[in-house]
Amino acid sequence: MTAIAHNENRVVRLFFYSSITWLLIGMTIGLILAIKYVWPNFLVWGEFLQKYLSYGRIRPAHTHVVLFGWLSMAYAGGLFYIIPQLTRKSLEHPRLAHAIGILWNIYIVAAIVTLSMGYTTTIEYAESTWPLDVYLIVLVAGAAYICFKTIAKRNESQLYVSLWYFMGSLIWLPFLYIIGNIVTYFITGIPQALAGWFYGHNVIGLWFTTVGVGFIYYLLPLLSKNPLYSHKLSLIGFWTIATFYVWNGPHHLQNGPIPAWLMKAGVIPSVLLIIPVWTVLANVFGTMKGKWHMISENVPLKFVVTGAIFYLITCLQGPFQSLMQPSAILKFTNWIIGHAHMPLFGAFSFVLFALFYHALPSLTGRKIYSDTLMNWHFWLSIIGFLIFAFTTWTAGVMQGFAWTEGKQYGVPFLEVVVSLQPFAIARAIGGTLMFIGQIVFAYNVRRSIKDGQLLSVEEKSTSTA
Ligand code: HEM
Ligand code: HEM
Repeated sequence: MTAIAHNENRVVRLFFYSSITWLLIGMTIGLILAIKYVWPNFLVWGEFLQKYLSYGRIRPAHTHVVLFGWLSMAYAGGLFYIIPQLTRKSLEHPRLAHAIGILWNIYIVAAIVTLSMGYTTTIEYAESTWPLDVYLIVLVAGAAYICFKTIAKRNESQLYVSLWYFMGSLIWLPFLYIIGNIVTYFITGIPQALAGWFYGHNVIGLWFTTVGVGFIYYLLPLLSKNPLYSHKLSLIGFWTIATFYVWNGPHHLQNGPIPAWLMKAGVIPSVLLIIPVWTVLANVFGTMKGKWHMISENVPLKFVVTGAIFYLITCLQGPFQSLMQPSAILKFTNWIIGHAHMPLFGAFSFVLFALFYHALPSLTGRKIYSDTLMNWHFWLSIIGFLIFAFTTWTAGVMQGFAWTEGKQYGVPFLEVVVSLQPFAIARAIGGTLMFIGQIVFAYNVRRSIKDGQLLSVEEKSTSTA
């Protein structure tokens, strides 16, 4: 593997440091939302704040910042870091990549401002308006071009499995984004809902999942110092996820206004998704064989293995909640919010934390400032997230049964809302711990850049190997 070239180092650092900033901002907005559940008048000081920080406006700002500012910018940085390593070829067009990083930040600022001003398409995860969508599609296409050109000019003949996942994701993302953000402009009603969820689920499955899985395959052998258990299994996983994921949009409209046959058809690919998920987990368990003891000392490995396990739990929960009867109870409840945070925070954000801790020494020439702080980051994130998850799941089940049985016995809707208050408080506490965990993370990164112990010449040459 190659030592990282100066120019691409600058690009990766821009993407990584920007994404950490967006992580903190996105989580702050999430926390404001959670507090508003407990205390609806929180931050309602004067007409200005009441309008611009109203729940309906900042909810899409939260999802945009965490999905496109945190996860996607960190993903792009990760691609620009890993692709040169796996191809033994320095990044093509580093200046263009740097410009894309700056323009991407401008997109997130513009999305927050326009969403809080009330400009929205109302389509979930595609709320920003069309000029911003076109702008982002150009940036994503530019990033994809740089990655493909680097892979095309590679000095390594074998395409390691992570590259398969990256290439697939980079082809799929611009098309999906166009369907969700542009095509939906020209259609209305149920076809619009179906196109919207075709985008919604596939951006989750063919971008956030597939790039994250590519990172797991990159990190696991490096951190555990074991070869990947099975290359063949990983490729079966790639082709089965590519085949089954695209049919999943309708499961988001289960028990909704779409034909019954389509809802039922949405269940089959949801259950089949167990196959690609299991290929990843079988590879994780196979690769970790004889190395489990390392988890207690190696925090990045702890993050990546925990992330993979959360990915497994998500994908056991997902097929269950796609079945008609469980969905009849769980739909529109807090359960789905718990499900959404598990892969996006518990699985793929954890994998990114592992990648950052692994990559930073080779990017900065300095060791991570404090192992103790890395551990605090892990434990605050996991304890906070488990509180968040269990309260949303429990509240969701209560909500679902109270609504269905409430109809029969006449329980008023507002009574259900009031009975959920303890859960809303617990979620805000869990979210606060998650947030403190990320402050510890950002502080540790900042101190590593400034005061981390310098790597020796030998450590420098092995830091990317
Ligand atoms: C086998 C895998 C999975 C299946 C079968 C599945 C299934 C589902 C179902 C049925 C819903 C509920 C839709 C509703 O009733 O409103 C849902 C929601 C959601 N899922 Fe999954 N899921 C899976 C994995 C994932 C993964 C890996 C991610 C993230 C990378 C994810 C992110 C989400 C999000 C963000 C939502 C909320 C969307 C909304 O607002 O409705 N899921 N999923
Ligand atoms: C990297 C971290 C995070 C990610 C990736 C993330 C992602 C998301 C997503 C995708 C949704 C939409 C879910 C759906 O519609 O089903 C959402 C909603 C929400 N998130 Fe987060 N989130 C993060 C951190 C947080 C934190 C720390 C809190 C604080 C408690 C929080 C609180 C909320 C709330 C209150 C909602 C709205 C729930 C509702 O409208 O019922 N999030 N988040």
